[in-house]
Amino acid sequence: MNIKEIDQKYIANTYARFPLELVKGEGALFWDEQGKEYIDMGSGIAVNTFGACDQGWIEAVEAQLHQLQHTSNLFYTAPCARLAEQLCLRTGMKKVFFGNSGAEANECAIKVARKYAAEKKGKDYYKIITLINSFHGRTITTLAATGQQVFHEEFLPLTEGFLYAEANDLEGIKRIVAEEKIAAIMVEPVQGEGGVLPLTAAFCKGLQEIADQEDILLIIDEVQTGNGRTGMLYGYMNFDLHPDIVTTAKGLGGGLPIGACMLGQRVENTLTPGSHGSTFGGNPIAAAGALHILERLDERMLSEIREKSSYLFKAFENAEGIKSVSGMGLMIGLETNGDAGAIVAACREAGVLVLKAKEKVRLLPPLNIPMELLEKAAAVILRAAKENQA
Ligand SMILES: Cc1ncc(COP(=O)(O)O)c(C=O)c1O
Repeated sequence: MNIKEIDQKYIANTYARFPLELVKGEGALFWDEQGKEYIDMGSGIAVNTFGACDQGWIEAVEAQLHQLQHTSNLFYTAPCARLAEQLCLRTGMKKVFFGNSGAEANECAIKVARKYAAEKKGKDYYKIITLINSFHGRTITTLAATGQQVFHEEFLPLTEGFLYAEANDLEGIKRIVAEEKIAAIMVEPVQGEGGVLPLTAAFCKGLQEIADQEDILLIIDEVQTGNGRTGMLYGYMNFDLHPDIVTTAKGLGGGLPIGACMLGQRVENTLTPGSHGSTFGGNPIAAAGALHILERLDERMLSEIREKSSYLFKAFENAEGIKSVSGMGLMIGLETNGDAGAIVAACREAGVLVLKAKEKVRLLPPLNIPMELLEKAAAVILRAAKENQA
């Protein structure tokens, strides 16, 4: 059997994989088992921040790999402590809990919000408002937080206590807040899986006012938008927001599993020994890689990301076969005239790997993709959108 056949026989049937086996990567290039080259416009869904096998990241990870790979959280280790310090210094948050994925980071945020509200306002203040079309993870609780019924149906009953509001509709949020006992509001700055849809500045400002006035915690899910993806270190920094909890994962690790739940002043002491934990959380190797990623995400890199973003927006806006362009930074959704799946397939044939989000073509290139590759990829995408119109 070849790899595709072995995979299909033995891997749980949860992924609709592209018909492609990738065997090697370097920067923003991938190669398949036939030796065909592809430009990567997906970064492993916003994970490979600096592309495949980035030399600086490899060196940081490798040095730690040769020193100490795991200790358990019963001991102090430098990469974990230093990473938490950097995250706090760069965001103004006060403490960090480390897990291994976005879902775990969000689980932690939900536990913190419930514990804080129970202690401050009473045990009946446990409800959390999330947005319709959001995506917060696949565990039973983060699935409940995810405002998309299609993901819920086969797994009922989910964790109780989530209420869903329309994105960018402040009146809807106000109505729920007036009627229910709310612990927190949780939002993504740009809904990624939901179709690459940014929140509006007015909605964010209003959310912050409601959170401040009503003593409701504001949780920002930066699992996909975090770590430079939107052109700022964290997506909320594009808006007038000062969150109580920020979760992140994906790009923080640059390709190794890590999740972080950052806690602001109001909740910095909510968790106590025994109230939460994770065997692999803060693993020294993943943390060493993440420290390197954060260090490289300086103002110069962020401004380059913004420049590449405006190049892509200009290239796609008003192009034939493209109805609209949405997103922020290097997180872009294209609403196309033709079927997005057909365009994704045409791009792949032509050597460019792009993704889908709902019915959009989604682009999440490595943040340091060279301009020359970005231009080549944009030309292929433009041609595919033009030639595959409905
Ligand atoms: C905004 C957001 N939150 C949470 C998750 C879940 O992350 P993970 O798959 O690492 O559990 C994702 C994954 O796509 C996401 O985009």
